[in-house]
Amino acid sequence: MYLKTLIILVSLVSCSTNYKLAKLGKNQTRKEHEAVGSKYMITTPGKHASLAGKKMFEKGGNIVDAATAITFVLSVERPQSTGIGGGGFLLQKSADKIKAWDFREKAPLRSHSKIFLDKKGNEIKNKSRDGIFAAGVPGLVAGILEIHQKEGALPLKDVIAPAIDLAENGFTVYPELAFALEVREKVLFSYPSTRKIFFKSGNVLKEGDRLIQKDLANTLRSIAVFGRDGFYRGQVARQIINENKKWNGLISQKDLDLYNVKQRTPITGEYKGYKIISMPPPSSGGIHIIQILNILEKFDLKSWGIQNPKTIHYTASAMQQAFADRAKHLGDADFVHVPVYGLTSKGYAEEVRSKLTDKARSKEDVYPGKFSKKEADHTTHFTIMDDKGNVISSTQTVNGFFGSGLVVSGAGFFLNNEMDDFSTKPGAINLFGAVGGSKNLVEPEKRPLSSMSPSIVMKDGEVVMALGTPNGTRILTCVAQTILNYIEHKLPLYDSVMALRYHHQWHPDKIWIEEGFPEKTLADLKTRGHQFKEGGIWCKVQAIARENSKLIGVSDARGRGIAVGE
Ligand code: DON
Repeated sequence: MYLKTLIILVSLVSCSTNYKLAKLGKNQTRKEHEAVGSKYMITTPGKHASLAGKKMFEKGGNIVDAATAITFVLSVERPQSTGIGGGGFLLQKSADKIKAWDFREKAPLRSHSKIFLDKKGNEIKNKSRDGIFAAGVPGLVAGILEIHQKEGALPLKDVIAPAIDLAENGFTVYPELAFALEVREKVLFSYPSTRKIFFKSGNVLKEGDRLIQKDLANTLRSIAVFGRDGFYRGQVARQIINENKKWNGLISQKDLDLYNVKQRTPITGEYKGYKIISMPPPSSGGIHIIQILNILEKFDLKSWGIQNPKTIHYTASAMQQAFADRAKHLGDADFVHVPVYGLTSKGYAEEVRSKLTDKARSKEDVYPGKFSKKEADHTTHFTIMDDKGNVISSTQTVNGFFGSGLVVSGAGFFLNNEMDDFSTKPGAINLFGAVGGSKNLVEPEKRPLSSMSPSIVMKDGEVVMALGTPNGTRILTCVAQTILNYIEHKLPLYDSVMALRYHHQWHPDKIWIEEGFPEKTLADLKTRGHQFKEGGIWCKVQAIARENSKLIGVSDARGRGIAVGE
């Protein structure tokens, strides 16, 4: 009896401390991805971007100046991921308030719900992904300028200067950029305006080549001088409209004039005494992170162990339910009813939990929840924190690699392909393999459903951590897992970010797993009825935690970003 208890105890201990981390990227060391400071902390996916943020603090700027400089530098440094032709969300905590800024792209006025279908109602291949029709009306410039105008301390020209400099003088193509260029080579080659910048003697730029973006530098100068009008009116606006005319696109001056930044009420939830704050619709992120955490709250995940098959099974099952609900219930809450309260309620989590067993549920057995229509209508990531309790957590994007692949001639930036985040028709699958429902069909001025989840975790009124990541639908499950790793499993922040990840999105009916899980874990999950898809999770979480008076920053070492602080 004594021996049996001892074996159980030993196995429990080894279970709960035994976990695997992802491998570091090529030529990477842990050191640059982790930093400790007390005055401020910055984690971004780009070296130039993190350093630009640091420069703003050194110049006497505040957290908003740092966020603005980082936004523009990322637009230059990571054209595959974000850009001034894109959009995003930003969650901002200051001493007295938390604001959720929405500068997501909008569908053009001349768009409609069948825009991506042929006469027979079939999807037109890649129309929502490549080229002019893929682009929503950009929101990034309007968003970040509005925030800077309200709360920045430094003049705009000082804050945009690092981005102009980087675009004008260029930088060396790094492995991830080279990879993305290779993946999208064919589409990029098909547009002369893109070819001019990203090809040399007919060949796409490779690792080690220099990327110079002079037209982009000029567009940034125009923004530095004229603010919002330097992009949405005047020469740059004309360039955007001309590009649309050239390809029979839909974006007009009226769309640019109508583009509006929205301040929304953040989504909040609670997990074992921690307050979780995240992005509301048109992001699905906040709702489903809280839903997943609610479902898991009653399980003792910590004692099961972070990468124990039982933990993976229940977490994946919670994710599966969330994505079944996402397909049915989510869309831009300015246009359709989203049952925010129901989806994030503890009662609904209880209902879902009661259907979970030790075995996997097949896709057909997972039904979206039913909610009353009467409930109230609520509606490349970087993170920064300072010693005054200010936090900025922002996810920005052009959607797929290089967005639509189409550079606005003479203006040097890519138009996004965010229109693909709409459902091309009910039940259709988007770039990230997620099922879209009728609430997410295209309508003029509507914003496409997103998974982007800039998030903040608090306890007893104090900030505990802030985080976010890119990676489509995986965003919300990567954020949920990182939060669980830190507050439930009590891993150090570095391990919380670097622990191997998994993902379930209801369709396809599989657990996506990062490479490296032990065979016996997978074998156990198979006996529960799960199937697997290896790879496909490339979240790059940018996280900062406040531990006593220290700010700990971790920039996911699966990527090239760095953490810097003081
Ligand atoms: O809004 C969304 O959910 C997507 N457009 C995000 C795209 C993304 O994360 C690209 N990933 N690397």
